[in-house]
Amino acid sequence: MLLITREMPPAVLARAQREHQLRELRLTGRFAPHHVLNNCEGVTAILCIPADIFDAALIAALPDSVKVIATFSVGLEHIDRDAAAARGIKICHTPDVLTTATAELSLMLMLMAARRAGEGERILRAGLWPGLAPTFHLGRGVAGKVLGIFGMGRIGQALAGMARGLNMQVHYRNRQRLPPTLEQGAIYHGEDARFLSAIDFLSINAPGGAETFHWLNHARLARLKPGAIIVNTGRGTIIDDAALIAALRSGHVAAAGLDVFAHEPKIPAGYLALENVVLLPHIGSATIEARNAMGFLALDGIKAALAA
Ligand code: DGY
Repeated sequence: MLLITREMPPAVLARAQREHQLRELRLTGRFAPHHVLNNCEGVTAILCIPADIFDAALIAALPDSVKVIATFSVGLEHIDRDAAAARGIKICHTPDVLTTATAELSLMLMLMAARRAGEGERILRAGLWPGLAPTFHLGRGVAGKVLGIFGMGRIGQALAGMARGLNMQVHYRNRQRLPPTLEQGAIYHGEDARFLSAIDFLSINAPGGAETFHWLNHARLARLKPGAIIVNTGRGTIIDDAALIAALRSGHVAAAGLDVFAHEPKIPAGYLALENVVLLPHIGSATIEARNAMGFLALDGIKAALAA
């Protein structure tokens, strides 16, 4: 029996129906452990999403029948992997197949923030556009600028390729330096201070979790050049929101584009009041192609784990 916590894309659901007996919860919004615990009798596999927090307590309370937890995400920070390993529960996730979609969204947010696209659309829809004028609604270009990528994994590397096509220079901050074949001329930084002071745009493409929690805080924001632009499609927890809101208000950070938030679907009120931030509802991987591929990969992982 496969327990699916959220509504799946139709093609994924159809395949899941062919391969398993299903229990579908179709949860929306916030997750609570009882959603799973009240529904997991006879369940061998669980398909969840990053909003479903499988901490040590929940994993300890699962019945012995559960052999695998698959997450419909590349991110794994919502699952206590040690607790799962201790119970012999396998974990699988969906890397690679969402790389292009998420890199595309990082690029889109970067351009939207730089060209003040959200604000421009709001002006137009409100009937406040005075008409074409040489000084109206000036943004910033990206060509010739330095893009700094925090987290040079698959998505960061894909974004770097797209940025090179826009004639941007790429610098990156990563735990390890990449081999030249993957680096493709990007400049590696082994520490934050120089990285942050070298860049015009910062794209956060790192995973969440304790290691990156509030990495972008007051002190690191202060290292950025005045007028820097920030994009986050990684995890909301990487940014100290109060610090970024203050930097956006003061203009030290000219604009930001955010797709992920620490307490989704809640958005800090400070962002909502600002014109210079583009806000999207965690849609980095939300293309039909990527979402189908993610579901199929999760089902492949479940099949392999149950067969082992
Ligand atoms: C992921 O895969 O971790 C995304 O954030 C959800 O699409």
